[in-house]
Amino acid sequence: MEAISKLRDVCDYAIANIKVVDPENERIFPGCVGVEGGKIAFVEEGLPEFGDKTVYDGGGLHLSPGFVDIHVHLREPGYEHKETIHTGTVAAASGGFTSVACMPNTSPAIDNKSVVDFILRKAKLSGFAKVYPVAAATVGREGERLTEIGRLVSAGAVAVSDDGAPVSTAQMVRRVLEYASRFDIPLIEHCEDPSTSAGGVMNEGFYSTKLGLPSVPAFSEELCLARDLIVLNAVKSKLHVAHVSTRGAVNRIREAKENGLPVTAETAPHYISLEEKDLETYDTNFRVNPPLRSAEDREAIIEGLKDGTLDCIASDHAPHAQEEKQVEFEYAPPGMIGLETTFSVVLTHLVEPRHLALPQALALITYKAAQALGIPGGTLRKGDAADLVLFDPTVTWIVSSDGFYSKSRNSPYIGRKLSGRVLHTILDGTPVVPSEAAL
Ligand code: DOR
Repeated sequence: MEAISKLRDVCDYAIANIKVVDPENERIFPGCVGVEGGKIAFVEEGLPEFGDKTVYDGGGLHLSPGFVDIHVHLREPGYEHKETIHTGTVAAASGGFTSVACMPNTSPAIDNKSVVDFILRKAKLSGFAKVYPVAAATVGREGERLTEIGRLVSAGAVAVSDDGAPVSTAQMVRRVLEYASRFDIPLIEHCEDPSTSAGGVMNEGFYSTKLGLPSVPAFSEELCLARDLIVLNAVKSKLHVAHVSTRGAVNRIREAKENGLPVTAETAPHYISLEEKDLETYDTNFRVNPPLRSAEDREAIIEGLKDGTLDCIASDHAPHAQEEKQVEFEYAPPGMIGLETTFSVVLTHLVEPRHLALPQALALITYKAAQALGIPGGTLRKGDAADLVLFDPTVTWIVSSDGFYSKSRNSPYIGRKLSGRVLHTILDGTPVVPSEAAL
């Protein structure tokens, strides 16, 4: 057997001596995986006969489908000082993600075919992850005129969203849902009621009073969601709720699902691992929108993941340059990077405290995330693209600002200890974990 570090093949090989984690079938077993022509040829238990295939020794590492992140800000075009499609996808590969969906709040916004073409071309040139553009729902994300959803979908957009802000009005939500339903794609909604959130930089409550910072009530998220669910009930198109952060929103989504509405939802790693009290340092890396919430909200989010109310976890990777974040808390732009810490946060905050077993936790960042968006990925079936990740769940590491491949450093986890490390990421059978040479 060859050492796994020598893995270079793009064609036919097998990786043996691994613990296969199959989230779709909720299984972990010692076995091996075979790759042929960039696709999964077999996943088997034990150590079968390999014939003349090159066999790499997985060294007892865990192997799972490559992770899928359906909410990432790649910032290009327009904000290349924060991130580019290249640096963002290298960061994705380093975090174990083989597919990412990128949000439309670029400059210009992803509101026409040429921007979708540009993103897809750049992503292909980099070759570190599959990129699925999310187009703007309204031109310029300004809430006034619908984008040409049909043309955007033919160009390769997989969903629409005005993320960064909610769709402007109930009537516009209705029109977007009606138009999107013709192409069977979801509206990804950033739920926030601007009349109650304007000017707020943290969650409203004891800590906002203590810290003297302008605040956003938890019900701001629920208000917007309630509006959207009422419209959804009339239109019956697909609605996906982004970065759910409150108990109220979890309850409403649970009820909507019970009533058979076509709604899916994601939360982000920071809402399962951090709380409003973390803002006591006034560290601007903790400013995010929606803001970090209360301990009760965090518990409700974890419950929502356990009972399936929340379908998946997405990083909401939102890079900002150091000079933008090195200002007073109120003036810092909201957002935190997450591609390179999401897997470890899931392990540390969901698996280690035994909220979820490993396959169920990884389901949230593999096939369930892909399903919510209707994109491929996240499974280990024969004939699937060989998008794979090898990791060690037992390693612990201290997050350091020097360790990121992202162009930005705005991580709230810097200095914190996390468990689990991605060691190899394989895209269409080819290893892509970044090396210095790639940058
Ligand atoms: O914190 C956030 N940052 N929330 C958003 O909705 C947008 C994002 C960004 O683009 O920076």
